[in-house]
This record gives sequence, structure tokens and C-alpha cells, in this order.
Amino acid sequence: MANVKMMLLCLSLVVLGALCLYLSMYTLIPFKEGPFVFKRRQENFLQLPDVDCGQNPPFLVLLVTSSQEQTVARTVIRNTWGQEKIVKGKRIKTLFLLGTTTSKATSKAVAHEGRQYRDIIQKDFLDVYFNLTLKTMMGIEWIHRFCPQAAFVMKTDSDMFINIYYLTELLLKKNRTTRFFTGFLKMHDYPIRMKQSKWFVSKYEYPWDRYPPFCSGTAYVFSGDVARQVYEVSETVPFLKLEDVFVGLCLAKLKIKPEELHSEQTFFPGGLSFSTCRFRKIVASHFVKPNDMLIYWHALESSLGEECPAV
Ligand SMILES: *[C@@H]1O[C@H](CO)[C@@H](O)[C@H](O)[C@H]1NC(C)=O
Ligand SMILES: *[C@@H]1O[C@H](CO)[C@@H](O)[C@H](O)[C@H]1NC(C)=O
Repeated sequence: MANVKMMLLCLSLVVLGALCLYLSMYTLIPFKEGPFVFKRRQENFLQLPDVDCGQNPPFLVLLVTSSQEQTVARTVIRNTWGQEKIVKGKRIKTLFLLGTTTSKATSKAVAHEGRQYRDIIQKDFLDVYFNLTLKTMMGIEWIHRFCPQAAFVMKTDSDMFINIYYLTELLLKKNRTTRFFTGFLKMHDYPIRMKQSKWFVSKYEYPWDRYPPFCSGTAYVFSGDVARQVYEVSETVPFLKLEDVFVGLCLAKLKIKPEELHSEQTFFPGGLSFSTCRFRKIVASHFVKPNDMLIYWHALESSLGEECPAV
């Protein structure tokens, strides 16, 4: 009787052990195979903008991320810094990056907006914050496939003020044509491990303690050739929902180092209070509401010929 009990105990221990081993292997496998490597999405574009880069290559393409509902922000951008313009003889073109929504009414409105302005790039992924990397990579894919002739590309957001005049001037002065990447440099950032943070990244998603050098996602600029290189290398880079860090990981693999555009600070991811003379010497400022965008832009445009006191 005791022997049978003993045998049953042994048997159950063996079964338990095997179960534990199986479970631990099962949870370990994803680490080995790396399921978080970025997968380029092969499906077609839902909307393509009306731009013929072969016929009429732009000097600078501004790719603006916005959500489905931000119609007002897009309208204001189209009427301010996003107007199609020639600056110092260089063509500037602004396009919007969009995903999809589950709301039928919003989808219809966005499709209509796209037909009206022909300035939307759209693919089939859910338009949420955590899909921002997909959105950015869609923009980079579009440049690579449809507009490799663009000399420069900026990726920015819909609550940014962009001084396209000063940006063009500085890019021409810098006179760099390849492997150039600039913006608000973040050379020594590290992952935020507090769950409450918007930028929380778990050790599973990103096991290392430091991020590679990258530029704040609020606004960064790169030479056109970087689009193809980032697109091609992206499939071998671990996926990260923070799009600016993800692009930084791609750049690290390509050995492209983000550089300053100018000796003075010109990118302001934390925002900057407005004065005409101050905004004439910046490239990008964050947290600008649609109504202020109109005011700042008109002040900037009407002051272009005037002098500002030297600082
Ligand atoms: C991102 O988009 C894909 C494709 O539409 C969707 O399956 C996924 O749930 C989205 N991600 C999040 C975090 O919602
Ligand atoms: C820009 O650089 C090229 C060489 O890379 C040089 O030939 C040209 O003169 C430079 N232009 C300016 C305006 O500095």
C-alpha cells in the first residue's frame, strides 16, 4: 500500500517537473526567436497623394502625423506652413500620414478630405499612439518608393510650428546631401521603466539600459537617401513602439550619427513662447494650438523683410 502511494507521489512529481520544464521552455522561446523584430507591412496604400516627384522633385517633403479626427489641425497646417511653396527657389511639399479608424463616419470624412486635397498617405493599420512606428515607417516607405528624388524629408506632428523659411536656409547652408540626420538630439536617453508613463518600455520590449542616439519625434529632418537605408534595415531591427527611438536603432545599425543643424538651438520639443523675431530663427516649436498657428504664421510671413535686433 505504502509502495503504491510512493509510486504515485513520484509519478506526480515527474509529471509536475515535466510540466514546469515545458512551461519554462514555452515562455523562453520568444526571447530566442525575437518576435519583436519589425515586419514591414506589405499591403498596399489605401490613399496615395498626388505628387509626381520624377517630374517635379521637391527639395523638402514634410510628413505630418495626425489622427483621424484632427481635421482642424490639418486645415490650419494647409493654410500656414504646409502650403505648397517655393522658398529660395526650392519646392516644399507637405503630406499627412494616416492610419484607419473603426468609425465609419470618420473614415468617410477622411476619404473625402483625401480626394479633395490629394495630400494624404494612408495604410490599413489602426490609428493609435502605439502604432506610431507603423505610421512613420509608412511615410519612409512612401519616400523610398514614390519620392526618392526629394533632397530632404522632415517628419513632424500636427501640433508643431515649422518655420520652413529658416529650415530651408539652414539646410542649404549646411550643404549636406547624404547620410544626414538632424533634429533635437537625444544622445544619452534611457528607457522609462515606470508603468504609468506614456513612454513606458518593459525590459521584454527593450532589455538594454540605454537608447541609441536619436532625435525627438516632434520634428526631425534627414537627407532623402536615408529613407531607403532606414526602410531596408528596418526589418532587422527589434520593433519598438517609440517611433523616434526605433528610427534611432535603424540609424545605429547604418552607422549614421544624428548631427546638429546649427550652432544655436533651433528645435524646441518643449515649446517656446512666441515672438516674431524669436520664431524667425527657429525651425520647430511644440504645443501650438490651431488658432495660435494662424497668428504666428501671419506674423512671421508679414515680417520676413524686416530687421530683428541682434541678440
Ligand atoms: C495596430 O494596428 C494593427 C493593424 O490594424 C492592429 O491589429 C493593432 O491592434 C494596432 N495596435 C494597437 C496597439 O492597437
Ligand atoms: C557644397 O558642397 C560641395 C561639395 O560637397 C561643394 O562643391 C559646393 O561648393 C558646396 N556649396 C556651398 C554653397 O558651400
